[in-house]
Amino acid sequence: MTTTSWSDLENKDGVRFSLNAWPDDRQSAQKCVVPLGALVTPLKHIEDVPVVPYEPVRCKACAACLNPYAQIDFNSKLFVCPFCHARNNFPPHYAGITEQNLPAELFPNYLVIDYTINPNKVTPPPAYLFLVDVCVSDEELASLKASLTQALSLLPEDSLVGLISFGTHVHVHELQFADCPKSYVFRGGKEHTSAQIRDQLTFSRGGGGPQQQQYQSQNQNPNTQQQQQQQQPYQQTNPASSFLVPLSECEFTFSAILEELARDPFAPLPQSRHNRATGTALAVASTLLSLGCPSGHPARACLFVGGPCTEGPGNIVPKALENATRSHKDIAQDKAPLFTKAKKKYDAIATQLCANGHSLDVFACALDQVGLAEMKGCAQKTGGAVVLAESFSHVVFKKSFVKLYGSQNKPEPSPESVSSSSDEVTPLKVHSNGIFEVITSRDVKVAGCVGPCAALDTARRHLGNVADVSIGYGGTTAWKMCALTRNTTLAVFFEVAKEKPDGASGGGYGQNPYGQQQQYQSAPQFFLQFHCTSTLPTGETRLRVITTTRRWTSGQNIPEISMGFDQEAAAVLIARQLTWKMEQDDEMDGPAATRWLDRKLIGACQRFGEYRKEDPHSFQLAPQFSLFPQFMFNLRRSQFVQVFNNSPDETAYFRVVLWRENVLNSLVMIQPTLTAYSFNGPPEPVLLDVCSVAPDRILLLDAYFSVVVFHGSTIAQWRKAKYQEQEEHKAFAELLKMPQEDANYILNQRFPVPRLVDCDQNGSQARFLLAKLNPSATHNSQGSPYGHAGGSDVIFTDDVSLQVFMEHLKRLSVSA
Ligand SMILES: *[C@@H]1O[C@H](CO)[C@@H](O)[C@H](O)[C@H]1NC(C)=O
Ligand SMILES: *[C@@H]1O[C@H](CO)[C@@H](O)[C@H](O)[C@H]1NC(C)=O
Ligand SMILES: *[C@@H]1O[C@H](CO)[C@@H](O)[C@H](O)[C@H]1NC(C)=O
Ligand SMILES: [Zn+2]
Repeated sequence: MTTTSWSDLENKDGVRFSLNAWPDDRQSAQKCVVPLGALVTPLKHIEDVPVVPYEPVRCKACAACLNPYAQIDFNSKLFVCPFCHARNNFPPHYAGITEQNLPAELFPNYLVIDYTINPNKVTPPPAYLFLVDVCVSDEELASLKASLTQALSLLPEDSLVGLISFGTHVHVHELQFADCPKSYVFRGGKEHTSAQIRDQLTFSRGGGGPQQQQYQSQNQNPNTQQQQQQQQPYQQTNPASSFLVPLSECEFTFSAILEELARDPFAPLPQSRHNRATGTALAVASTLLSLGCPSGHPARACLFVGGPCTEGPGNIVPKALENATRSHKDIAQDKAPLFTKAKKKYDAIATQLCANGHSLDVFACALDQVGLAEMKGCAQKTGGAVVLAESFSHVVFKKSFVKLYGSQNKPEPSPESVSSSSDEVTPLKVHSNGIFEVITSRDVKVAGCVGPCAALDTARRHLGNVADVSIGYGGTTAWKMCALTRNTTLAVFFEVAKEKPDGASGGGYGQNPYGQQQQYQSAPQFFLQFHCTSTLPTGETRLRVITTTRRWTSGQNIPEISMGFDQEAAAVLIARQLTWKMEQDDEMDGPAATRWLDRKLIGACQRFGEYRKEDPHSFQLAPQFSLFPQFMFNLRRSQFVQVFNNSPDETAYFRVVLWRENVLNSLVMIQPTLTAYSFNGPPEPVLLDVCSVAPDRILLLDAYFSVVVFHGSTIAQWRKAKYQEQEEHKAFAELLKMPQEDANYILNQRFPVPRLVDCDQNGSQARFLLAKLNPSATHNSQGSPYGHAGGSDVIFTDDVSLQVFMEHLKRLSVSA
């Protein structure tokens, strides 16, 4: 199948596999080199997904949900589970089931179905606890305040809001009483345990221990808790109630406090950084949320930080300016003494947030690093957003902010209706309380998951479908997703359990929706089911069940395995696996990662290429592999592998985003797209190569995190001469406008909003384009095979070009 058909299938169920026919023994599967895995978008917006007003029927043995592949015995009212082959009686209310009277989940085209869970339970609207850095400049603070004020007008009236400001100390602002604004102070430099924070917040309110206990015992049953809260005023039972207040009750107070909020009164010493207690602020926030929004009550801590943490636990750099912020090199060479300790502190906060189902959004807005690399886990594991911008007045911050906290009540526009010119941003719909679970056929084990999630202990481990060797968050078949959107995409890795191929056993259950029944009888299929429970922004809880099947094939049957290769999904799975390894393993630095990728690629070429031994010219790859070497070439050069070109904070940011986007978006991060605009015809995609640069062209580079509009030198001269303003050069004005509009379209589609760079061929910002281009015309390669070298810019780099890379690859692949 071609790439288009894989993405067609993805549009139906939100799932893409690296291999769509799996070798039926473990050894052969390992020889395929590419990881066996799936990219799953569990809440993908799919047309015609039925929403049924009941809960699923589950197999009593493996908990798989009833699905179209189950074998039904209508006479005995039972079904055979395609996953574990257990026979299950239908529940009494399915007694009327006949071939003509099927429940929706058995319709062959309903392989994706949404169940409504516990419709009477109403989840309270999410709480937003804003953490404001007051060590930034007056201008920065003013911009930030303006955005926060805007958020107050956009958030639902009934959401709980809270405010913490931090600098040398951490202030928790009381929002209940308008007349005498008060705040509770935590010393920034001191380590506070969760119990100390709780006690201080509780006693400062005059609340006592007994009330605390009463509150906690209510937690056990969310329903009673709701009722009791309605009977007794909320604030009497909850120690957090004066700090987390419904927006409708505190909008005025909140605005007034914001307005009064001043910069940190403790000026830094000479030659020193500000005292900024970000770690303590997060610890206080996490505990406050655990009190105010017990498990099941969605809540987000929203951190706005404009510099590094220097005070107290979680500090990433000494105050003295003579100590530079750690670089990748420092971390690699063990010369970042604060790094590990800080990371440990933030990881503990991440654990607390996860345990309560809360998430952390980080808006890091500074020219310098703020310690995102250390605190990343808090956002990564909780599904919180991470936005990196240079300032609170930058459009990247402002637009991303509105996308995240914009009105949740607006109806979701269908993807088609989003107009390209509209400047209106579509707010993200954030779901909460997510749990993602994987059910597999007997011979498939789950190795782990790389995505915005945290492993859950699972009671189902005894079924033996957890692989011994983990990739990603492993040792489980279920993950918690405190926050997720409809686009959140997880990478799930699998392992073939069978030690030896066992011929054509099993298989043949139910009908096959893709009309390939014949094939399956000789090559049996396996099944995977993905469950995702989440709370919608409306408060409803839904369970989506996605049932998929793929086929087994003999490990010797290279043509069939090869036919089922999805090079795009494979490249993205490899990128996630590799970045995971780089995070876990200190030895896995840039050069080691490059070698790892090269070995993978050569291994795949040896396995799937066609060639005569020792004859590089004979080497050929089937069409479904044709782009794979290029993906690997670009991944090798990308920000994900060549980390030394970026700061640790930037690397952390890139990975957080890579770990949540779908195949298409991830590919753009790995291999940017380049489009040329000229008078010679409509815009056309061109090679990501310096040979694409020409004086009479405009290039649009989409590198996902940045979008570059690059004017060739002639175009730039004309623009400088303002030809576009002259009536007779209307066509030129049109030409200038087109890439700008396309760039804006991209900006509006994405979260976080990418940075837009507008530059000219000889300008200083041209490097944002040139750095991404294949150096076909570098000084160390003999001439470009593309001819018109005259107009090309020369990149001085020791990187090999794609052409040289491909030649090496062929040579290495055909040698024994
Ligand atoms: C800060 O710099 C001083 C002097 O260069 C050095 O002795 C000290 O170890 C540094 N501290 C850290 C934490 O890097
Ligand atoms: C989410 O995915 C849809 C397509 O399925 C796309 O139109 C939209 O822009 C995406 N949103 C974000 C914020 O990435
Ligand atoms: C731009 O740079 C090229 C060489 O890279 C040079 O030939 C050309 O004259 C320059 N154009 C302008 C307008 O400076
Ligand atoms: Zn079962």
